[in-house]
Amino acid sequence: MKSRKWNQLLRKVELPTFLLLPVLSVLLFGQQEKSTTPTDKTTAQYAGGDTCKTCHEDLYKNNFERTSHFKTTLQGGHGCESCHGPGSEHVAGGGDISKIISFKGLSRQKSDARCLACHSENHEQRHFSSSAHASNDVGCLDCHSPHHAKEPEHLLVRAQPDLCYGCHTSTKADFARPYRHRVDEGLIQCSDCHNTHGTTTLRQVRTLPSGDAVCYKCHTDKQGPFVFEHVPVKTEGCTSCHTPHGSTNPRFLRVSNVNLLCLQCHTFPSGPQGPTHNQAAKYQACTLCHSAVHGSNASNVFFR
Ligand code: HEC
Ligand code: HEC
Ligand code: HEC
Ligand code: HEC
Ligand code: HEC
Ligand code: HEC
Ligand code: HEC
Ligand code: HEC
Ligand code: HEC
Ligand code: HEC
Repeated sequence: MKSRKWNQLLRKVELPTFLLLPVLSVLLFGQQEKSTTPTDKTTAQYAGGDTCKTCHEDLYKNNFERTSHFKTTLQGGHGCESCHGPGSEHVAGGGDISKIISFKGLSRQKSDARCLACHSENHEQRHFSSSAHASNDVGCLDCHSPHHAKEPEHLLVRAQPDLCYGCHTSTKADFARPYRHRVDEGLIQCSDCHNTHGTTTLRQVRTLPSGDAVCYKCHTDKQGPFVFEHVPVKTEGCTSCHTPHGSTNPRFLRVSNVNLLCLQCHTFPSGPQGPTHNQAAKYQACTLCHSAVHGSNASNVFFR
């Protein structure tokens, strides 16, 4: 989110805050006008966060003030009421819970809409409404909690990967395989490869800003460009030969025998030109000779 950069800037450069606040407030609250108010016909007015604090002091101090949403109070923002709606009638009623938006009673679509009033422009959440999660009734609050986050970073209800495994049990099994990305050990996170808020790609898989496969972020040596490209690496992608999560085969290969993998495509006459030498019968791994299988600058048959 842009505002994070502004904050770092503020901290680093210690510019007088007032110079940047107008900009910040446009970034943060520019959306707010458009957001629907709670019960659309309400006559309630904004009471202000200080009023809320008088009765909800505990929550204010322990579950709000130290979270990133404290920023919603800056520069004319409505703080508590930017999520819960104008609260004057709730206050006048001595805490009448029918006069305030409580997320407990809201459908996922409605609560998501409240969050998206501010977050929909954010690069990361932009595609949420059309995501596999939203389409399957998984909403912001299945993963986030503004007041009771167990994982303070990003206000998550649980840390990854357990958050995800709670629903994706077969993925948990993928990462228990002998050859795998070390997600359970914390070396890599699901969100390194996926944007759980939705993408324009299949399976919510991230792409690099260049549009290239996310795999190149870490496996830069496979990117090339090579004088001699092995066609499928670029056309069909890494997952045509590797499983992205984990495998029972070394190098996360989809097939237990490397030769069978190669011969899936290199079978004469149907595939790309098959080997004129018949190595399949010789029990020698194709990669023994064709070792630079991701591409080469020296050999058109990928010897090195
Ligand atoms: C006069 C005291 C008072 C003030 C001021 C007050 N509240 Fe409350 N609020 C209450 C009480 C009492 C409850 C019910 C608490 C309970 O059931 O645990 C409540 C409950 C709530 C709930 C939960 C509703 C639910 O269904 O559980 C929300 C949300 C809430 N208040 C938000 C606000 C906001 C936002 C403000 C500031 C605009 C505010 N309150 C100001 C007394 C107050
Ligand atoms: C970013 C949106 C947001 C802001 C800002 C916000 N709340 Fe909430 N509030 C929620 C959500 C969502 C819930 C449902 C529980 C949860 O997921 O944490 C909730 C729950 C509550 C509850 C029910 C009891 C509880 O602990 O869950 C109260 C009371 C409440 N909020 C009061 C406040 C007050 C007072 C403020 C300002 C100090 C505030 N909220 C600011 C979103 C917000
Ligand atoms: C009034 C605008 C507003 C609303 C409504 C709002 N947020 Fe936020 N949210 C913010 C701002 C501002 C930040 C801080 C951004 C920053 O620090 O760059 C933020 C930050 C976050 C973060 C990131 C926390 C972190 O530490 O990385 C999460 C997660 C989040 N909001 C979830 C929600 C959810 C879920 C809802 C709905 C219940 C919601 N927001 C409603 C304005 C809002
Ligand atoms: C399936 C779980 C899931 C759902 C649903 C979800 N989030 Fe997230 N969210 C995450 C995880 C995990 C992270 C931290 C990793 C990352 O940044 O991708 C995160 C990070 C964030 C951040 C901070 C990172 C950033 O700068 O964008 C914000 C803000 C946020 N989510 C808002 C939302 C909002 C708003 C919704 C609903 C419209 C939502 N999330 C729905 C899992 C989820
Ligand atoms: C509350 C349950 C729930 C949580 C928590 C959850 N998911 Fe999902 N996820 C679903 C459902 C339901 C679908 C849609 C059905 C399906 O494809 O399994 C889905 C779909 C997906 C997809 C797309 C699958 C496809 O076939 O297009 C990915 C990727 C994904 N989730 C990753 C994650 C990650 C990463 C996390 C943790 C940050 C996470 N999910 C947390 C329920 C959840
Ligand atoms: C190294 C990158 C990477 C990591 C880390 C990763 N995924 Fe995936 N995931 C992918 C790719 C790529 C696909 C698409 C596979 C395909 O289309 O064949 C995928 C597919 C999925 C799917 C769709 C169903 C399936 O199994 O094909 C789900 C659900 C999913 N991932 C969830 C998760 C969860 C949950 C985590 C963390 C525990 C996670 N992923 C970690 C790259 C990754
Ligand atoms: C966030 C960084 C990151 C991303 C993104 C990533 N990887 Fe990895 N990958 C690693 C690391 C680190 C290892 C080493 C694993 C270990 O030692 O636990 C690894 C190991 C591998 C291995 C096995 C290497 C061996 O020597 O056995 C393969 C194959 C692989 N990754 C393929 C992929 C594919 C395909 C993708 C894209 C879907 C991908 N990786 C995305 C970091 C990443
Ligand atoms: C045509 C099939 C194929 C494609 C496509 C492919 N690989 Fe591989 N990859 C292999 C084979 C076979 C091995 C094992 C080589 C060996 O054992 O000597 C391997 C090994 C690896 C290794 C571990 C050894 C090393 O060279 O570092 C990594 C990491 C890896 N691949 C990443 C990737 C990534 C990232 C992509 C996508 C850019 C990709 N692969 C695309 C077949 C493929
Ligand atoms: C997904 C299909 C696919 C897989 C799997 C695959 N290849 Fe290829 N390979 C191709 C295509 C397509 C070409 C380009 C053929 C052309 O240009 O005529 C190619 C080209 C080659 C070439 C260069 C010679 C030529 O005809 O251009 C060699 C050598 C080669 N592959 C070896 C291998 C080896 C070894 C493996 C197993 C590690 C393998 N390939 C796996 C599709 C594949
Ligand atoms: C003992 C080393 C060796 C092994 C093992 C080997 N190859 Fe080759 N391969 C060669 C040589 C030598 C050439 C010819 C190079 C040239 O013409 O410049 C070749 C050429 C090729 C070509 C290009 C078309 C052709 O026949 O000229 C393909 C495709 C190929 N091999 C695929 C494979 C596959 C698939 C396997 C495993 C089933 C395999 N190779 C195993 C040495 C080997």
